[in-house]
Amino acid sequence: MEAFVMQFQSLCIVFTMAFGIMVRRNRKLHIKVMSLAIIWDVILILQIELSRSAILKASKAMSNAFALNVHVTIAVLTVVLYGFMIQSGRQIIKGRGDLRKKHKILGFTTFSLRILTFVTSFWAVSPKS
Ligand code: HEM
Repeated sequence: MEAFVMQFQSLCIVFTMAFGIMVRRNRKLHIKVMSLAIIWDVILILQIELSRSAILKASKAMSNAFALNVHVTIAVLTVVLYGFMIQSGRQIIKGRGDLRKKHKILGFTTFSLRILTFVTSFWAVSPKS
């Protein structure tokens, strides 16, 4: 049940981000939607961190450790890229139009990794066979 709530939020974040990319020409809206997606993702990480220890204690986690490591690595990389997205985005607002291409490439990389984070979360919570 708990995993479902987290994964549902994760899917909503992916859709929010997709919407933010779709409206990228509308600068004001793009910034609002992307900020919402990033903040929601950080809150989701906090929710997982705060509940994971409880889950581990309760179930003695017989989950797939390798899958969990892969998933966490991709998730951490995504959050690191959020930092670069915020930084390059802020620079573009200040007039550094030349950074748009970089922001775009980093943006699609970040979005792809975020989808991978979502997909690998199913693998990570599945019991090892
Ligand atoms: C994961 C988060 C983000 C993704 C995936 C993303 C993605 C993109 C993409 C694909 C573009 C279009 C670039 C182009 O076609 O030249 C864009 C434009 C832009 N982004 Fe982001 N972005 C993100 C976060 C942010 C943030 C946090 C800010 C602001 C602090 C920001 C500010 C901008 C600005 C100012 C533009 C130029 C818009 C224009 O055409 O006037 N982005 N972004």
